[in-house]
Amino acid sequence: MRIDDARSEMLQLRELIRYHNDLYYRESRTEISDGEYDALMLRLRQLEDSWPELVTPDSPTHRIGAPPVSGFARVGHDPPMLSLDNIFSENELFEFEKRVITGLGLVTPPVYSVEPKLDGLALSLRYVDSLLVLAGTRGDGSEGEDVTPNVKTIRSIPLRLRESVPGNLDVRGEVFFGSEDFASLNRERSRLGEKPFSNPRNAASGSLRQLDSRITASRPLSFIAWSLEGTDHLSTQSEVLEFMSRLGIPVNQLNRTCRGAGEVVRIFTGLEASREEMPYEVDGIVIKLDSFEEQRALGNLARSPRWATAWKFHAEEVATRLLSIEMGVGRSGRLTPVAHLQPVSVGGVTVTSATLHNEDDIVRKDVRPGDIVIVRRAGDVIPEIVGRLPGADTERGARFVFPDRCPVCSGPIVRLEDESAHRCLNPSCPARLREGILHWASREGLDIEGLGVKLADQLVSNGLVHDIPGLYDLTVEALASLERMGEKSARNLVEELDRSRSVGLERFLTGLGIPGVGRAVSGYIALRFATLEDVMDSTPEELTEIEGIGPVLACSVHTFFTDPVTRRVVERLREAGFSPRTEALSASRVLEGLTIVFTGSLSISRTEAAALALRAGAHVTGSVSSRTDLVITGAGAGGKLDRARNLGIRIADESEFLDMLERN
Ligand code: IVH
Repeated sequence: MRIDDARSEMLQLRELIRYHNDLYYRESRTEISDGEYDALMLRLRQLEDSWPELVTPDSPTHRIGAPPVSGFARVGHDPPMLSLDNIFSENELFEFEKRVITGLGLVTPPVYSVEPKLDGLALSLRYVDSLLVLAGTRGDGSEGEDVTPNVKTIRSIPLRLRESVPGNLDVRGEVFFGSEDFASLNRERSRLGEKPFSNPRNAASGSLRQLDSRITASRPLSFIAWSLEGTDHLSTQSEVLEFMSRLGIPVNQLNRTCRGAGEVVRIFTGLEASREEMPYEVDGIVIKLDSFEEQRALGNLARSPRWATAWKFHAEEVATRLLSIEMGVGRSGRLTPVAHLQPVSVGGVTVTSATLHNEDDIVRKDVRPGDIVIVRRAGDVIPEIVGRLPGADTERGARFVFPDRCPVCSGPIVRLEDESAHRCLNPSCPARLREGILHWASREGLDIEGLGVKLADQLVSNGLVHDIPGLYDLTVEALASLERMGEKSARNLVEELDRSRSVGLERFLTGLGIPGVGRAVSGYIALRFATLEDVMDSTPEELTEIEGIGPVLACSVHTFFTDPVTRRVVERLREAGFSPRTEALSASRVLEGLTIVFTGSLSISRTEAAALALRAGAHVTGSVSSRTDLVITGAGAGGKLDRARNLGIRIADESEFLDMLERN
């Protein structure tokens, strides 16, 4: 076969397959049998195997997935993918409208685009000259994971737009499971003896973030778009929705435009009433100013726009029996009463326990074992007990008495003056230690593979480990003596622990579990200080100068490193071989005084790139202006790059940037 013949046959096959796909997914009709369809696909795959250079990015063969990848590359979002502020009542809606009217100086209420809020996960799709080239999860909003091969298997996402659109378009929307598809996926999993997903949203996230896109291909995910970046000929959100629909991008048929909050209330009430009948989970509505000019005039806050908000439906509430109240002890020693419940399904999730917050909460609600209680689950938060269903109880158990000693270690507990929580004060309380070890080993922390709940439990209850540094005294022999732990796993774990000694400062600080200090704050601290010793010796004043750190956090960090007990833990970690530094230290300040902007996606993370630049003396900002000295561009750079060109600002790509740092 000659290459020209192959090319033309492949072209025909692609057109034909696309035609039958469209028929099936858009019109729910078929003109050929499954067998005939499979034969077309098979032939196309054979040809693509023989002539790999003729494979096009929009080939329908991508729908079946590609061989696994070892990890996800990063995708930058420009502008960032914002989140939404939530409101929960009509009053709050009218307050929102008042802010809009005053902010814009309007005389009549504005026009809104009102859209059902699907409960899935946000995704960004990059089309270049009408072809889908890149798909990224939202991640932290500025940067997510490249899940392109996985996304290509989602049938409702067009690999090529229906009309030709030159240049870059970023389509943003929600990936989710339809309720039917979710139910059948879980039925299938149960049949295979696999653990069912607890809710459609987790299932969607788990299915999308698969290293092997053939697994994603086997999961019937759906997509609905809600915004578009990269067009300048449209002036309203409703036009954008219509334009996307014309391009073959799925948009929600229930989207509406209306004027004024009164109309919004009507739409909200209607949608909430028909919530149960919807073919997917909707957790509220999104209300956006329709006019882009008005959106721009109001602008954005750090994480969410001022021109939009999400109005959540009422959380679902159900009744079930309270079986017992037990005490959980957290990493910080905080005691939380947990209600164990007769299993009950709330909003598609089986709930077996719920939080009772604290002593005051139990007293106020007066719930006791045997009572019928109302359980509520709102969004992602842990389920909570709303109260008791009076009169329904057959026999009420005893009133709950809050313990005066820790239920795990029998150590003293205190109720701090300024909070309603009780805490166990014993730093080596097994429950606290177990949580502390799990946090240290967690993905955000030192990411120690093989150190999970079961093992942490065993290490603590067998007395093998008394504090975090104790992990580093573990030997293969000691580990292998544990139940269900083979010699090989023991060896692997010791190696993992060994490897963890070279962790960078950011993860090390995260792992310590300093109250209030998670990965983000640790990241900021690591940008300011080069070594652990610098952090240990820092003053609260120095700490408050750091972006994102106020006096409370500064005090928390300072106390952690000065308190004899916690300081001793850190000292022992240093003796165990830890000397964490901020990763990516540049030898000298070659970028001293320069103002730098990053745009597009780089092979290293934004935080890492910013850290490099900061270490080399630069000032990093988010937007290009006449004061910018240098713009570093990565794949898919858009508006900022154009602006830099117009302003005649120096532009460099990632490798030039890295060269600059290495020159010294
Ligand atoms: S717009 C700047 N529209 O809700 C505005 N978001 O809680 C950004 N979502 O991250 C979002 N349906 O994942 C928008 N019609 C809709 C949406 C929607 C669902 C999700 C989205 C977003 C989250 C915010």
